[in-house]
Amino acid sequence: MADEEAPSSCMGNGDLWAPQQWRSMECKTQLNVDLQLNSNNNYHPKNCEGADYYDDFDWDSTSISNKKMELFPKWRLPAKIAFSLSLFFFIYTFLREVLHPFLTQKRNEFYRIPILVINKVLPDVAITLLTLAYLPGVLATILQLHRGTKYRRFPRWLDTWMLRRKQFGLLGFFLGAMHAIYSLSYPMRRSYRYKLLNWAYEQVQQQRENSWIEHDVWRMEIYVCLGIIALAILGILAVASIPAVGNSLSWREYNFIQSKLGHIALFLCTVHTLVFAWNKWVDVKQFIWYTPPTFMLVVLLPLVVLLCKTVLILPCFSKRIQKIRCGWESGKGTGAKCVLTHL
Ligand code: HEM
Repeated sequence: MADEEAPSSCMGNGDLWAPQQWRSMECKTQLNVDLQLNSNNNYHPKNCEGADYYDDFDWDSTSISNKKMELFPKWRLPAKIAFSLSLFFFIYTFLREVLHPFLTQKRNEFYRIPILVINKVLPDVAITLLTLAYLPGVLATILQLHRGTKYRRFPRWLDTWMLRRKQFGLLGFFLGAMHAIYSLSYPMRRSYRYKLLNWAYEQVQQQRENSWIEHDVWRMEIYVCLGIIALAILGILAVASIPAVGNSLSWREYNFIQSKLGHIALFLCTVHTLVFAWNKWVDVKQFIWYTPPTFMLVVLLPLVVLLCKTVLILPCFSKRIQKIRCGWESGKGTGAKCVLTHL
């Protein structure tokens, strides 16, 4: 229903973690209206929220609307989704990697829960959240292409999702950073040292002098390298999404960091996962209790997003979407000279 749809004209580009509404002239005007309204009502307690300082005792809690005082309202949806995904991946990995060996081979693998199981949950949720930060941009672009205009409002759910991209991205970065710390801690664990000694003993028993497996070495070197580069780029994105930093950049610089670098980071994370998986895709032992391994589950959505993005940057689509974002409408086809509203 059109009436229920929130305005979406302030979103020029559908790709960014943190859409900077003030950068568009329309939105700047809207912001000015808001500021005027605020300055006319300065005496109202609602304005305490915007003030740097106010006295708790001057503050009439009943007159402040609950909505205004909500705790982290923008983070609720992304946090709920992150929590649900974490729970799902935790149970899934626990069943496959802890319960399955316990029930079928009486092997006690419960020690895996604090580090190894958690370090599957963290990257799986991280890459899914990062994908959720870029998916609405792709959907919005497809919708604009389909409608042939930027002047029709996005559906309400898409608008809300677009406005939460920054939170999805930052949560993804946070979990990705945790995953990196967990991964780098592997060699310092006692369980790892015992395993290493056991492998060395088995090697001696089998009278094997060298246990070097060339393709496995390359696999690990490459996926760890890709993970580190991806994390570094995500770090730049996170810093650029701080309002003070973002506001000091030009629109082109900001767009380059949040959109171009963002998709590059998602691409690197996906390749990192694919290289980690290597030839496990065709290994039937991975399908414990007929369930696919987690890396297979999580890599599909980013692959779809990256594929759509690649198709959308093909000249036949990108030219049309650029025209639409300049104000051109397919029905009218005026051929007016294109001037970007956000420049
Ligand atoms: C310094 C950076 C990174 C390092 C050293 C690193 C290292 C690793 C390691 C060691 C694994 C294997 C985990 C295991 O099987 O126990 C792994 C898997 C994985 N990593 Fe990373 N990683 C890094 C960054 C990232 C980032 C930024 C992402 C995405 C947000 C990511 C996503 C994944 C995924 C999805 C898996 C597959 C997990 C599964 O089996 O379900 N990694 N990484």
